[in-house]
Amino acid sequence: MSETLDNPNNTPVIKCESVYKIFGNNALKLLENSNGQVDAKTFQEAGCIVGVNNASFGVNKGEMMVVMGLSGSGKSTLLRCISRLTDATAGKIFIDGEDLLSMNSKQLIELRRNKMGMVFQSFALLPHKTVIENIAFPLQVKGTNTRDSMAKALEMVELVGLKGRENYFPRELSGGQQQRVGIARSLAVEPDIWFLDEPFSALDPLIRKGKIFPLSWASKNLSMCKLKTLGVWKALL
Ligand SMILES: Nc1ncnc2c1ncn2[C@@H]1O[C@H](COP(=O)(O)OP(=O)(O)O)[C@@H](O)[C@H]1O
Ligand SMILES: [Mg+2]
Repeated sequence: MSETLDNPNNTPVIKCESVYKIFGNNALKLLENSNGQVDAKTFQEAGCIVGVNNASFGVNKGEMMVVMGLSGSGKSTLLRCISRLTDATAGKIFIDGEDLLSMNSKQLIELRRNKMGMVFQSFALLPHKTVIENIAFPLQVKGTNTRDSMAKALEMVELVGLKGRENYFPRELSGGQQQRVGIARSLAVEPDIWFLDEPFSALDPLIRKGKIFPLSWASKNLSMCKLKTLGVWKALL
């Protein structure tokens, strides 16, 4: 599902062409023998798990694409392929027209640091850092000085409704509050590409409704493209 078609130069920010991710030792061989016709059951019998099966799409600047599916259908795996936290088994992925799969580790670090913001399903907060330190951390990695990074982090704390909790540690927060820290951290760097992996899964429906505001704030204030996953049940609420 896409919204807001605004693509001045016709190069999608994200482009996937026949992307497959198969887990298992014989994955590539099985895939080559299948001529692209991947059947999850047959692959499972051969000891492989199909994570992503022939995904092709493009996402332009200003667009949001939502990937919806049952638990285990491969949503997180797809996001991990596009951020190259995992390597796709086959297919092509381009970010701003550049071939993601041919980038070396230095280029990948730069790409993730400067262009991508990620909200992980598991929150992935640093346990020994406070809320504000967690949010400021990616900015500091980018080289922003302490004063500016803390000021920006505080702005983000307010955006997600956690003012007053900035000096708490993740273990002192509820799951939903931790999830909001993850959202704030991913936005602090003002990314061009925002990956949201079930970003509201830990928020109950009533709070969630109110907490969608980082999405509208981001749409208004940042010119980015977004790739969001949703579990089917949560999407219905
Ligand atoms: N590292 C891995 N090794 C083996 N199988 C995996 C791995 N990561 C995910 N899978 C499998 O890939 C499928 C898709 O998982 P996932 O992308 O986490 O689904 P979703 O995010 O839609 O719930 C599942 O069957 C899962 O068990
Ligand atoms: Mg997932």
